[in-house]
Amino acid sequence: MISPIHTVSAAEMQAGRSLAGALEDGAVLLFPDLDFPFSDFERRFVERPFADGKAKNVNIRGAGAELRGAAGSPEEQEALRQLLIRYRRFSEELIARVLPDYAGRISFAGTSYRPFEVDKRKMSWRRDDTRLHVDAFPSNPIGEKRILRVFRNINPSGLTRHWRVGEDFGAMADKFLPKLPGYSPLSARLLAALRITKARRSEYDHLMLHLHDALKQDETYQKDAPQAEVHFQPGQTWVTFSDLVMHGAMGGRYMLEQTAYLPVAAQADPDKSPQRILARKLGRPLR
Ligand code: SIN
Ligand code: FE
Repeated sequence: MISPIHTVSAAEMQAGRSLAGALEDGAVLLFPDLDFPFSDFERRFVERPFADGKAKNVNIRGAGAELRGAAGSPEEQEALRQLLIRYRRFSEELIARVLPDYAGRISFAGTSYRPFEVDKRKMSWRRDDTRLHVDAFPSNPIGEKRILRVFRNINPSGLTRHWRVGEDFGAMADKFLPKLPGYSPLSARLLAALRITKARRSEYDHLMLHLHDALKQDETYQKDAPQAEVHFQPGQTWVTFSDLVMHGAMGGRYMLEQTAYLPVAAQADPDKSPQRILARKLGRPLR
């Protein structure tokens, strides 16, 4: 089955039912017309990129919300920082409203401004996010947490954010799990001791990194696997578990993105997590 796009109407939002079930099943929740207005001053941020060009994105991190990777005058950089802080609050409020089950359990991490055209240059396959993948962070082990993301297309001239979404996680894992190298607790400890990873890489982290790489490297899978094109219009907001939903970003420019973490145990149904799906397929708990 291909990951469904679940459009959430105003009436459905009014009804106040939690959308956790659909989200945990692997849907992309699409909110067609939430309000997130820009001031006249802020409109410059979608007219040209206010980025130093060294990193792919501009972001704020941590309690201090320091801005990284931005360009512009001090006044402009402060306005961009405030815009990102406002987007983080918008994301928090949206999740509190449609996913009340997660209240108090979710933690909000980086917020990014992505002003550049999706990179279609010939780059290393590992960094190429046009290839279908699930998210996994090499230096930042995720352990018993889920990666939840809130995206918003802020393009001013009608350009869509063009994605592909792939088949469900379980079907993908059936194809790739048998090909992955085994986990070594010893090398996981070594990577942490050498500070190559920020914490010990769990067996789950190991499997997800190797799935990410195996998926991106498999040209036949990329071309022939079940998939669908999605065009997110300017002004649309979408929410998904990017560790569960196979996705690739094919095109688009100017987007906001919020990353959040949710403990597996805080899910409405923890058995739907990639952690538990992989454990079931291996027939044992992960180490
Ligand atoms: C990704 O998470 O792979 C990229 C999403 C995007 O840039 O639209
Ligand atoms: Fe991704």
